[in-house]
Amino acid sequence: MSTTRPDDDRVVLQARDVRFDFAGLRTDWIPGEPFASHVIDVLHLLLPEGERWFVEVFSQVLPMVHDEALAEDVRGFIGQEAMHAASHQGALDHLLDAGVDVSRFVEQVEWIFSELLGERGLTGAEAREWLVERVGLIAAVEHFTAVLGDWILHSPELDAAGADAEMLDMLRWHGAEEVEHRSVAHDLYTHLDGRYLRRVRAMLVGGPALAKLWTDGTAQLCARDPQLRGTPQRRTRLRDYVRAARRGLVPGPWVFARAVLTYLNPRFHPARHGDTDAAIAYLAVSPAARRADGRGDGREDTA
Ligand SMILES: [Fe+2]
Ligand SMILES: [Fe+2]
Repeated sequence: MSTTRPDDDRVVLQARDVRFDFAGLRTDWIPGEPFASHVIDVLHLLLPEGERWFVEVFSQVLPMVHDEALAEDVRGFIGQEAMHAASHQGALDHLLDAGVDVSRFVEQVEWIFSELLGERGLTGAEAREWLVERVGLIAAVEHFTAVLGDWILHSPELDAAGADAEMLDMLRWHGAEEVEHRSVAHDLYTHLDGRYLRRVRAMLVGGPALAKLWTDGTAQLCARDPQLRGTPQRRTRLRDYVRAARRGLVPGPWVFARAVLTYLNPRFHPARHGDTDAAIAYLAVSPAARRADGRGDGREDTA
């Protein structure tokens, strides 16, 4: 099956060699908002293992790609996701060093990606089918990462709330690259299989699984944050989420509902959604991306 895009917005994907320094980062890096901080921190629990799994699956699939432009995209995707995993690993290590002991939850996440979604000792046609199934699942998850990337690029409420600049840069650099490469997993799935019902099934499995992991991860972070010991914030409540979403500090439920409905449209293609211009504009000013490109961090422009 050929790979088609509704418009020609192809970006040459490059992995930027970014570095982040989280030394001294507060656990409520959105000051006074530990709940909202931890909702976003769930990314650090899921993505190191999750994105390494993306890289593993896509590396195995690469020889099955018979379209040079798509193969180039897949290689760019692999490079970007490997950097994302490493950057979120740094944030996770910082959380663990700060005494937020979520190691058991992280072990469960590792089991999901290495065992449940890992190799199954299959060969031949069965091995290929299991690979395609996982590419379909990654395409569904990548729709959410693109939607979240778009959200974080358009979240001035986090700046207004005084969110930590280093963490915000990490999230926006990552979000911008998610928007940049948002079509790759979908195009790869279309190239290998493309069946609509299989795509729907991936969303019906991946969407609720992600929601459950996110809810449990937030609860774990709040329960195990030493700064919240003895406070009512140790226990997470639905109304905390509603309040944080109304204030624009976390994506609201409508963001996810719209994402699912959009995905279920048989004519869905990621290129029709998301703001590539905003992603490119952010990567031009991101301090970490500028340092990676040898352009300084932008501060000297205003000195
Ligand atoms: Fe990523
Ligand atoms: Fe991604």
